[in-house]
Amino acid sequence: MKFQTKSKKVNKAWLHGHINDPYVKMAKRDGYRARAAYKLKEIDEEHKLFKPGQVVIDLGAAPGAWSQYLRRRFAPKEAGIGGAAVGKLNGTIISLDLLECEPIEGVQFIQGDFQDESVLQLLESTLAGRPVDVVVSDMAPNLSGIEGCDAARISGLIELAVDFSQRHLKQDGVLVSKVFHGSGYNELVDLFKSTFKKVKTIKPKASRDRSSETFLIGIGLKAQAIVAADQ
Ligand SMILES: C[S@@+](CC[C@H](N)C(=O)[O-])C[C@H]1O[C@@H](n2cnc3c(N)ncnc32)[C@H](O)[C@@H]1O
Repeated sequence: MKFQTKSKKVNKAWLHGHINDPYVKMAKRDGYRARAAYKLKEIDEEHKLFKPGQVVIDLGAAPGAWSQYLRRRFAPKEAGIGGAAVGKLNGTIISLDLLECEPIEGVQFIQGDFQDESVLQLLESTLAGRPVDVVVSDMAPNLSGIEGCDAARISGLIELAVDFSQRHLKQDGVLVSKVFHGSGYNELVDLFKSTFKKVKTIKPKASRDRSSETFLIGIGLKAQAIVAADQ
């Protein structure tokens, strides 16, 4: 007689849930690499973030679903359904991730750790002084399970994204960042409030209920939060 271990049961339940997840089905149908595309789509539809011609930075971009969505938004005519468009691109998308990412036509990808000074410099040299309209960050570090340690790593990455935004966003630019409820959350909301004129939170429907993730949207830099890019 064979006994199922608890973890096998959990894996089976996760797999069952994943296969039957409507967003997983939609991503497959629409040619997106991950269901995450629908989170950004919903945030965009609700807050009207993206317009053709913009400069957008996608942090924590792999496997590339958000960049696929952006690539499609910046195609002169959004042809067909989902996935990344090809051909003319009206806008600039620079994506960055620790992991490799299968290329997306027209999207400039940098592989490296956003926390590394050399990677940040590479990102800045790719930008070549162009002010940024929107920074989106879906970065999530690998978690250790030690709450205090994980909260500090999550907050550290988000603080860096805010710092980058202060240096490179246009005055009316926007930062969208994934955050997690738990320790450090209130401090991050305070950081957003001291940096941006308007701060909104959104939990897109595509974000699983059981996940503590939510998204903070910072709109328009406060005058005192703007930092000259070369400082
Ligand atoms: C949830 S995934 C992003 C999914 C992506 N938005 C998409 O639509 O395909 C989070 C990503 O953050 C990346 N990441 C975590 N820490 C990072 C860091 N320090 N620098 C760059 N990327 C990082 C991970 O490698 C991972 O690919």
